[in-house]
Amino acid sequence: MSISKNTKIYVAGHRGMVGSAIVRQLLAKGFNNIVTRTHAELDLCNQQAVSDFFLQEKPEQVYLAAAKVGGIHANNTYPAEFIYQNLMVEANVIHQAFNASVRKLLFLGSSCIYPKMAAQPMTEDALLTGKLEATNEPYAVAKIAGIKLCESYNRQYGLSHDIDYRSVMPTNLYGPGDNYHPENSHVIPALIRRFHEAKEKNSPEVIIWGTGTPMREFLYVDDMAAASVFIMELDKSIYDQYTEPMQSHINVGFGADIRIKELAEIIGKVIGYRGRITFDSSKPDGTPKKLMNSERLKQMGWCARVNLVDGLTITYQDFLKQPNRY
Ligand SMILES: NC(=O)c1ccc[n+]([C@@H]2O[C@H](COP(=O)([O-])OP(=O)(O)OC[C@H]3O[C@@H](n4cnc5c(N)ncnc54)[C@H](OP(=O)(O)O)[C@@H]3O)[C@@H](O)[C@H]2O)c1
Repeated sequence: MSISKNTKIYVAGHRGMVGSAIVRQLLAKGFNNIVTRTHAELDLCNQQAVSDFFLQEKPEQVYLAAAKVGGIHANNTYPAEFIYQNLMVEANVIHQAFNASVRKLLFLGSSCIYPKMAAQPMTEDALLTGKLEATNEPYAVAKIAGIKLCESYNRQYGLSHDIDYRSVMPTNLYGPGDNYHPENSHVIPALIRRFHEAKEKNSPEVIIWGTGTPMREFLYVDDMAAASVFIMELDKSIYDQYTEPMQSHINVGFGADIRIKELAEIIGKVIGYRGRITFDSSKPDGTPKKLMNSERLKQMGWCARVNLVDGLTITYQDFLKQPNRY
């Protein structure tokens, strides 16, 4: 069933990398009634403010892409902020959406919800089967709570209030709007920055931590946004066919991984860096492989479109346009 282009849609976190891609995707599909609030206008940790916002705006659909997000260092240094703020944002948005009769909501989680030792590629049913990675456990617990909030509201009120709250778990994302902070960025933006600076300075060598052998998966953020809208619009009978009431989240990945060494070489080429790439194998590598199993999503009818070279080329152009780049 197609959804009216006038449907009032609230995108929480619309200034973030994923939220802004969801807004781009919705506008490209012709949706013309998108509601947004900046963090300064609406602190999603403030229960009363979130309640007032929902009762005033009464959106029909919600994409929950607001979250306190950060790398290993930030997660380790501010664990209380990571668990508290993410739990508050999710509980406030999901509960007040329900109070305001929002029928459809999509919650964005993360691949860190899966146990550290989960079999690769990680399937949806690995959730809650083992210990989490210690460094981001508080964040992951909050994300698991978000999935369980959606499921619990569906189970208690799904039939009586005709609500349908779904969850998607993205793999590592990259694209326009990423964070290029020197100490607090993910692998792709960190490498873009390093190679760009090396090119500017004519440095003969870029040294990368680790052996370069770990395998990682990366998805272009506009693909993630397309998958989000796809899942939001998917017929309930199809969504229900592939999920369980208490295991309702869907993995969103590219479907293949790549060695860090190969990734670095591609980024070097996209940027036009002509020097040497050296790996410092005295530095730690991290998990050898982290890949999502996205078969369920594929069976539902969606798969990624943007390959790494194309995605990185657009991302680098966006990087060049950013005035302070982090
Ligand atoms: N980026 C990835 O590789 C990746 C991978 C897997 C999953 N995800 C998931 O995707 C979602 C979005 O991530 P992202 O990369 O787009 O993060 P992001 O760029 O940091 O965006 C998050 C947005 O949420 C807003 N926000 C945070 N706390 C808020 C609050 N209390 N009230 C109102 N707004 C608040 C932030 O505003 P301020 O900046 O003003 O605080 C920011 O605009 C997250 O749930 C994340 O777990 C991301």
